[in-house]
Amino acid sequence: MSEEQPSRRKFYLAFINGLGALITGALAIPAALYLLVLPKSSKSIQWVQAADLSLLPDKTPQEVSFPEKRVDGWKVSTEKATAWVVKTSDTQVVAFSPRCTHLGCAYHWVAKDNNFFCPCHTSTFAIDGRVLSGPAPRPLDRYEVKLEGAKLLLGPIVKV
Ligand code: FES
Repeated sequence: MSEEQPSRRKFYLAFINGLGALITGALAIPAALYLLVLPKSSKSIQWVQAADLSLLPDKTPQEVSFPEKRVDGWKVSTEKATAWVVKTSDTQVVAFSPRCTHLGCAYHWVAKDNNFFCPCHTSTFAIDGRVLSGPAPRPLDRYEVKLEGAKLLLGPIVKV
C-alpha cells in the first residue's frame, strides 16, 4: 500500500508535466512561426491582365477593371481595381491610376472637354495626365505597363 502511493503520485506528476509541455508546445509553435517565418513578399512585381488592346479605341481613354491580388503580410486577397487606359498606337499604351493626385477622388473622362475631370475640387488633367487646372499637385500616377501580344498587363503604380 505504501509503495502504491508514491507510484501514483509520480504518475500524476508526470502526467501534469506532460500536459504542461503539450500546452506550452501548442502555444509556442504558432508564436515561433509568427516571429520566425517571413511574410510573403509584396515587393515582387505582380503583372495583371487588364484589357485586350485590340478592343480599345485609339486615343480615347477607357476605364478598365480587373482583379488585383493584394498581399498584406500573410493575408492574400483579390480586389477589383480600375485604370484609365489610353491606347496611343497599336504598340503603345498608357494606364493611369484611377485616383486624383490631389486627395485621391475618382476622376472621369469628359469627352466634350477632352480632359479628365475630378469632381471633388475640380482639377482637370490632359489626356497624357498633365495637370491642366485645379489644386492637383502633380500629373496622374501611372501603372507600369507591358504588352504580350494584344494582352495589356499592368504592374505597380508609379508616381510621376
Ligand atoms: Fe481631385 Fe481634389 S481630389 S481635385
